[in-house]
Amino acid sequence: MTEKAVLTSAPLLDEIQRLKEDRNAVILAHYYQDPEIQDLADYLGDSLQLAQVATKTDAEVIVFCGVHFMAETAKILNPEKKVLLPDLSAGCSLAESCPADKFESFIQRHPGHAVVSYINTTAAVKALSDIICTSSNMERVLASIPEDQPVIFAPDSNMGHYLKKRTGRRMEIWPGTCTVHVAFSAQLLQMLRTKYPDALLLAHPECDETILSQADHVGSTTAIIKAAVEGRAQQYLIATEAGVIHQMEQLAPGKEFIPVPTIDDCPCSLCPYMRVHTPEKVLQVLRDLSPEITLEEELRLKALRPLERMMALG
Ligand code: 13P
Ligand code: SF4
Repeated sequence: MTEKAVLTSAPLLDEIQRLKEDRNAVILAHYYQDPEIQDLADYLGDSLQLAQVATKTDAEVIVFCGVHFMAETAKILNPEKKVLLPDLSAGCSLAESCPADKFESFIQRHPGHAVVSYINTTAAVKALSDIICTSSNMERVLASIPEDQPVIFAPDSNMGHYLKKRTGRRMEIWPGTCTVHVAFSAQLLQMLRTKYPDALLLAHPECDETILSQADHVGSTTAIIKAAVEGRAQQYLIATEAGVIHQMEQLAPGKEFIPVPTIDDCPCSLCPYMRVHTPEKVLQVLRDLSPEITLEEELRLKALRPLERMMALG
């Protein structure tokens, strides 16, 4: 176990439950949340699943325990719902690595390209894109673009190069990265492979080539959890944010999940942006109905088009 499960006090949980019913609210959480947030959420998922749940829920209020672009995506898809982010400082290094004005110039320098943006982007970048993808549908999204049309892919360069290698597509790739996924050490991974020769390596596509080239399975957080739970091996080396291990341990208690160490030899790679939410902040946001995600309608409509194209692919 990599993180101690801290139990949320019963009175706090009761109060969250009471306010949730009062507000007709639902709590969505990403797998990179602290275990105590994962345990109190109504729905857990990867980026695509959380966007899908947000469009299907009857709740009037969505409390989003994830990062800003995820809550913003929920708002783009559901303008009539109140979307709350318990801590507004929950950004994303990858989304920040692609400012819309610079991306617009990049697009202008590559005319005739289809613009595919990863969901880890701001609404302004989505608005400049033809279609959005996530780590769970990226190949399907690429396949939806005519084979002879070149593609701009942003903002994750590791994911872009991974896709380029797998599909052979002509691609111009934006040079962004995620600080969490580029921190894994290929050298320390080698040592782990010697120590656990039968373990399978599961990696998120935001990891760099030195990790991805060795992986037994590359996929979204949901796909990684599924591969660990359903796989025949007893031990798994995990190259993504350590939050996924909480679900693995619950769903496959007899197996061993070993986080790949970072370059400074830390065995628990945590996303500092995801980890800002706490049960106390969830309670507060339900009480205050703030901080709320808001968007200019013109921008929302422009960002909606490429998202809807992705959602239509299923
Ligand atoms: P998933 O969509 O695979 O959950 O990834 C989200 C993310 O932010 C990865 O760093
Ligand atoms: Fe963004 Fe990386 Fe955190 Fe995912 S893990 S939310 S890409 S900073």
